[in-house]
Order: sequence, then structure tokens, then C-alpha cells
Amino acid sequence: PALSMHAIDGLVFEDVPLNAVADALGTPTWVMGARTLRGRYARLSGAMRDAGLDVAIHFAVKANDHLAVLKVLGAQGAGADVVSGGELCRAMAAGIPACEIVFSGVGKTRAEMELALRHDIARINVESAEELELLSAVAVACGRTARIALRVNPDVDAGTHAKITTGLAGNKFGIPYDRAADLYAHAAVLPGIHPAGLAVHIGSQIERMQPYRQAYARVAELVRVIRARDLGVEVIDCGGGLGISYRHETEGAPEALANAIRLELGDLGTRLEIEPGRWLAGPAGLLLSTVILRKRGYDGMPPFVVLDAAMNDLARPSLYDAWHGIIPLSPRDAVAPAEQVHVVGPVCESGDTFGHDRTLPHLRDGSRVAILDAGAYGMVMSSTYNARPMAAQVMVDGSRWDVIRARQKIESLWEGDIVPNTLTHPAG
Ligand code: LLP
Repeated sequence: PALSMHAIDGLVFEDVPLNAVADALGTPTWVMGARTLRGRYARLSGAMRDAGLDVAIHFAVKANDHLAVLKVLGAQGAGADVVSGGELCRAMAAGIPACEIVFSGVGKTRAEMELALRHDIARINVESAEELELLSAVAVACGRTARIALRVNPDVDAGTHAKITTGLAGNKFGIPYDRAADLYAHAAVLPGIHPAGLAVHIGSQIERMQPYRQAYARVAELVRVIRARDLGVEVIDCGGGLGISYRHETEGAPEALANAIRLELGDLGTRLEIEPGRWLAGPAGLLLSTVILRKRGYDGMPPFVVLDAAMNDLARPSLYDAWHGIIPLSPRDAVAPAEQVHVVGPVCESGDTFGHDRTLPHLRDGSRVAILDAGAYGMVMSSTYNARPMAAQVMVDGSRWDVIRARQKIESLWEGDIVPNTLTHPAG
């Protein structure tokens, strides 16, 4: 609904013709839609409210950490789920109050713990007994009390890609279920620690509700076990993971998630939280790119359409074999006869492929395309591999658009390089 094809303007995102953006800035360029972000946030929070739940939404900053994105979501009431000191600082720089920030992750350093404690953030989600001991020591040393949740590993299969499944026994995440209650009791007597609740996150791009139900049911059981020991459980962090539709998948419905939370956790009298990233930001962003050239392959094989965007910009296809929609910007290209092509980037790896055997309207050299659903785990995962500068970024908001990051200057690629003196003035 945020994208439409106009006879003259071509592809329009919200109310901005994407050709105008590409004319002004060139490509590759990321585009985020502020109105789309707000709309998705409203739908998610509305679904929770309609289910009779008071659920705090903490945006998973890892999905898109641009300050403008965090500002838009923060203004709607979102808090933040962060996994590093850097993300914590970004969230605060965007004006998200520390009391709405939760810190997750399997390996927080001492310095990151100190930072979180110094800013008195809402909570730290602890992922191991070892981390709990360290946090206790750090909290005592800083003269603070760390409010924590124990992240449990429920050993539930989220039914998603192996690289983004996190709730199985063999995954590095969370505390083994059978040890969680004892560890909670231990946390209650550790100095500098206040055990406030439990957290669970079983993976990303989850399409079905059954894994959520299973995981939440296990958490509910744990709450009862812990309470039977006369310990308090004030909050449950229900994690993120709700999937979107890149191709044929059905988008995870916030209403269904709300229902799963209500059914399994609704009557425990705890505060509730979720930490979605992809569902909020994914469909709110895209990547603009231009066809550098078409290249003929071996006889009988599809031609290669070589784009000026590459795996260093959008890594998901090369990392997870992810499928992203690709559509032309110009109305003329959009109605060109369909053909089968491989859509690739210019980076010197075969993995630098956006689509194998795609059926697309015939694209010419210089044709522009939008690579869709790139608002989550897109720009944040880019690199300067092959000395390719970081792409420009734009935010559209209804009919206006603004540059939110200039294209990186070539010279800045080696700005931080230090050449030891001895190399320029060899001794002897
Ligand atoms: N909470 C925790 C503890 C997480 O580890 C994650 C994601 C989230 C929340 C947010 O999950 P989401 O709602 O976005 O599914 N780079 C991969 C995805 C990695 C997800 C990592 N953890 C991709 O591009 O598919």
C-alpha cells in the first residue's frame, strides 16, 4: 500500500516519486518511510490494546539503528531493545529515555554493563549464570542494583532459517530451561541484582504462532515454579521475531501474536513487553539501484543484470539466500516483456546475487529498480567491502523527503588507516 506505480512519475513510495530521489542523489540509496513506520507501529500497538493487553514495545535497534528511524518510533511511544553499548548510546542519542531501554545479548562486556548501570536503563536481560556473576560484581563495584530478567532458552523450534533460530537447545542463546528457576533463586540473593522477570526470544522471521505459544507456555510454567518459591516475577519480555512477507510468506499478524501472548501469559499479572525489529522496519524501507549493464551468459542461460548495489549494501541474499522483491522504477520498464534473468551486484563473489532466475520485465542499462522490504537488517549490515562507500540514505514522510545520511566520500574510506612511520621512512 505504501508503494504505487504512476503513469508519469513511476514508482511512488508514500507520496514521493522514487525517481526524484535517485535523480538527486544517485544510487545505491536507501529509502525509509516515516509514515509507513508510524502506521506499522500503530497497527502493532493497536493489536495489543485490542487484545486487552498493556504491552510495552521495545524496537530491536539492531534491525535499523538510524537516529531518524529511532526518533520516529520513539515519538510513537516505542522503547528500545539494544545489544551493545553502541546501540544503547544510539537509542539515547535519539531521545529514547533510559527507563524504556532493555539490554539483551549473550556477551555483554564489563564496560557495557557499567554503561547500562550508570544510565539506569530499565533492565538487563541476562543470558547465563556466568554473566549473572559478572553483572553482580560490576553492579556492586558501581554501587548500583541491576534490574534483570533471565532469558530462558525454551528449546522450541521457531521453524525459521537456521542462522536466525535462537531458541533451540543447541543455540548459544538463553539459559537452559531446567536450570532457570534455580538461577532465579540464586539471583535473588546475589548482591547488586534484582530479578524482575523472564525473557524469551526464539528466532526471527517467524511465520506461525505455534512456536510462540509453545515458548510462552514454557515461560508461564516457569513463572509458576518461581512464584511457588516465594519469589516475585514482575515482567515478561516476550521477544521479537514476527515475520514479514518477502515473497509468498504470510506476514505475521500482530493480532495473532497478541492473542498468543494473551492466551499463554495474559493472566499472570506481570507487565508485558515485546521487542520486534523486522516487522516494524522491514516493509518500511527499500534500496534503490541502477542497472550498470546487462551481460550475456552462456548460450541458453539467463543473462546477468548487473546492479550498482551489492552484497556490501544488502547482505541478506548472500547470507541467508533471502528473497527480496525487485521492481522497476519507470512505468515504461514496468510493462516491458518479462524475461528470466540473474540479478547480481558487481562485487567479486558469486554470492553477490540478489536473485537467481528471476522473472522480471526486461531491464535496460541505466534502468532503475527498487529492492523491497529492506528496512530491517539492510543498511545496518552493510560494509565497505571492495572499497565501496556506504550508500546514501533518505527518509520520506508523506510527500516530503530528506537526506538522512550523505553518501560516504571515497576519501573517508581510508580516513582511519594509520600507516606506520617505519613504512614510509624505512630504518637504515
Ligand atoms: N530480540 C532479540 C533478543 C533478538 O536477538 C532479535 C533479533 C530481536 C529481538 C528482533 O527480532 P526480529 O523482530 O527483528 O525478528 N540479520 C537477520 C536477522 C537477525 C535477528 C537477530 N535477532 C536477517 O537479516 O534475517
